[in-house]
Amino acid sequence: SDTEKGTYNHFMLKEIDEQPFVIRNIIQKYQNSDGNIKLDKDIRQAINDADRLYIIAAGTSYHAGLVGKELMEKVAEKPVEVHIASEFLYNEPILSKKPLFIFISQSGETADCRGVLVNVKKQGYKSLTITNVPGSTLAREADFTLHTYAGPEIAVASTKAYTAQMAVLSILAMDSAKAQGIDTDFDAMQELGLAANAMESLCDQKETMEQIAKDYMSGTRNCFFIGRALDYHVVQEGALKLKEISYIQAEGFAGGELKHGTIALIEKGTPVIAVITQEHINLNIRGNVQEVEARGANACIVSTDRTKEEGDHIVMPDIHERMTPIVSVVPLQLIAYYAALHRGCDVDKPRNLAKSVTVE
Ligand code: AGP
Repeated sequence: SDTEKGTYNHFMLKEIDEQPFVIRNIIQKYQNSDGNIKLDKDIRQAINDADRLYIIAAGTSYHAGLVGKELMEKVAEKPVEVHIASEFLYNEPILSKKPLFIFISQSGETADCRGVLVNVKKQGYKSLTITNVPGSTLAREADFTLHTYAGPEIAVASTKAYTAQMAVLSILAMDSAKAQGIDTDFDAMQELGLAANAMESLCDQKETMEQIAKDYMSGTRNCFFIGRALDYHVVQEGALKLKEISYIQAEGFAGGELKHGTIALIEKGTPVIAVITQEHINLNIRGNVQEVEARGANACIVSTDRTKEEGDHIVMPDIHERMTPIVSVVPLQLIAYYAALHRGCDVDKPRNLAKSVTVE
């Protein structure tokens, strides 16, 4: 059952493995028998009516929001701002004329998000909650709800909820493009199916990820993740995963920013994990990998390209450029898991953390 570990030692590993099924489930839930997207017409209308979407979230859900912005803007040409809930609450930005607020929350109970929801409702704005718990506070209090159908997520470190959130956002983006009559060749359903297969093939490579975790993470104090464009958002999530369960100080950086300060931290043996999936920026990020290697870093690359890399390399199947975060995060989740495991950490219940943060 969803709330038992079965043959797994940890919920986190079970939940990582469930991801391909979750994505396939989402495809089913959001499709009509005629193959069209199944979406409440009022939600479609609310998105259509809005001149700007404001995504509000915390932690991993915030990272899903960053990817959601790219999808919405590139596929549906909808301007989007993504805000950390706790920041928005005390520092409200200038709003557009017709904003729609989209709350992304696995639990639907995050107090920082609720604070924003209560506030924007008072101002008369419409809201949509994307959540894994349909009966939750944020779901009940928002005007509209979308379900991520990931099943109960027990491990404190969020995995399947994150990929499910991005999947739902990709469907929303495609739906919004269609509703506006935008001519797009982006078929979210088809691409999600391919992404699910790709996730599965990465989940089958656990020995590789475990070895990389042992080689890179066993004695290290810190670890850097680098990426550009969409990959930058994924490495922020990879770093959060690693720090919250293994207690290794980790940060996700935009590759181009290294030279503006961070590269000073690179020493002999510093682990650097680079995600390289975005064609238009491949050369630049490969240059960043060379820069850190020249200063002694131990670099491991996650990329779709089989031919270019030397050294440690995780190859992921070639999928649609906008869908890569759903897939490239899987090795990062697994590396974090094995790093925590081999450092003797309590994987499912890291110190100082709660599954849902119900205080501001
Ligand atoms: C993720 O691994 C975290 N434990 C945490 O950042 C979480 O994503 C955040 O607290 C938001 O939770 P929510 O999605 O339930 O709102």
